[in-house]
Amino acid sequence: MNTIHINPERLQRFLTEIAAYGATPDGGVTRLALSDEDRDARNRLRAWFEEAGCETKIDRMGNMFFVRPGRNRALPPVMTGSHCDSQPQGGRFDGILGIVGGLEAVCALNDAGATLERDLIVVNWTNEEGSRFTPGTTGSGVFAGKLDRETMHALKDRDGLTFGAELERIGYKGDEDFNPGPLHANFEYHIEQGPVLERRGMTIGVPKGIVCLRWFDVFIEGVPNHAGPTPMDERQDAIHAFARMASEIFAIGLDSDGVVATVGEVHPSPNSRNVIAGKVHFTIDVRGWDETETDRVCAEIERTVAEKARVTGTTAELRRTWEVGRAPFHPRLASLIRDTARELGLPALDMVSGASHDTVYINQSTPSAMIFVPSIGGRSHAEVEETSWTDCAAGADVLLNCLVKTCNDPEGAEYA
Ligand code: GLV
Ligand code: MN
Ligand code: MN
Repeated sequence: MNTIHINPERLQRFLTEIAAYGATPDGGVTRLALSDEDRDARNRLRAWFEEAGCETKIDRMGNMFFVRPGRNRALPPVMTGSHCDSQPQGGRFDGILGIVGGLEAVCALNDAGATLERDLIVVNWTNEEGSRFTPGTTGSGVFAGKLDRETMHALKDRDGLTFGAELERIGYKGDEDFNPGPLHANFEYHIEQGPVLERRGMTIGVPKGIVCLRWFDVFIEGVPNHAGPTPMDERQDAIHAFARMASEIFAIGLDSDGVVATVGEVHPSPNSRNVIAGKVHFTIDVRGWDETETDRVCAEIERTVAEKARVTGTTAELRRTWEVGRAPFHPRLASLIRDTARELGLPALDMVSGASHDTVYINQSTPSAMIFVPSIGGRSHAEVEETSWTDCAAGADVLLNCLVKTCNDPEGAEYA
């Protein structure tokens, strides 16, 4: 079968131009969900997609759907896309590559004068990262019917601003939901965000699914006191308790069978050098492919938190903030990606996604799979995040050809 190609220079231009929104001095981006930078990037995306002939729909979560009409609009459409929000001091590729990859696929189809059978929808999901508003993947979670819209609108950031008010402020709260009906297939194109592809010398990653995820928030209470006169053996120091918990959480992850555990956010109070801290709020992120082992690790962490609070004379409240089961992808769509990579002469590797993605929710209602490209040095969620332009183009070529095949699947064909 003939393959078609994206335009690598145009893809690079899209990626370079969009990286200006929230650009940081060290080459990354800070484009937190529903910030001014997110709004400006959304405006840019909308202009590009509309120039490329797509219709735009915006739902009540601020998810943006760019629709390229197919020949038979009654057929279930094919979806692709990702997110344009980033971590604080995050990278220029995480999420946005999947949207701009979809945009480039639309442009390449336009260049080829191709009309596909089914509608192609490229989507920008709101708040994938969950860094400013917790949990993450909120836009896709509500779209998939797995999270409640009103509850998500009520989420607050650390300044007390709500998701709903911020969505309205940036002008992206749509008036109604977008309901394209059942979807035929969903692809998310993304950087790997880990070291596997680079170490194995592979260009395309074909994940069999996404690991399961558990988030916790821990609130430690000690006794605030003066750093000078208070004897060491009479302290109830919340930072000391935190340090012992964090060190043990790392060790539990290290000793586990393939589970990772991360303490990512720490908020001590009053955060002053000559005060024994009275409070610490910190977060824990636990992930693994094996749900049983992941839950065993979580139980061990819960026990450790209680034990370290006891021995440091503090109290600790541990709240389970978010939980998503692992997401095994559709095997036939994963095979389609593998076969397409082969047709394009690109070496492909089966793997697991250690990062989470919007497809974790979309996968629950739509046959889904993902396409990965290498992350240089395995670095991501950091300003140094990098993927070569050649690899960006290779992944976009795989995406384009998978979209062509699935958008041209005849009436009645189903992956479900
Ligand atoms: C998001 O990028 C995540 O994997 O947490
Ligand atoms: Mn991402
Ligand atoms: Mn991310």
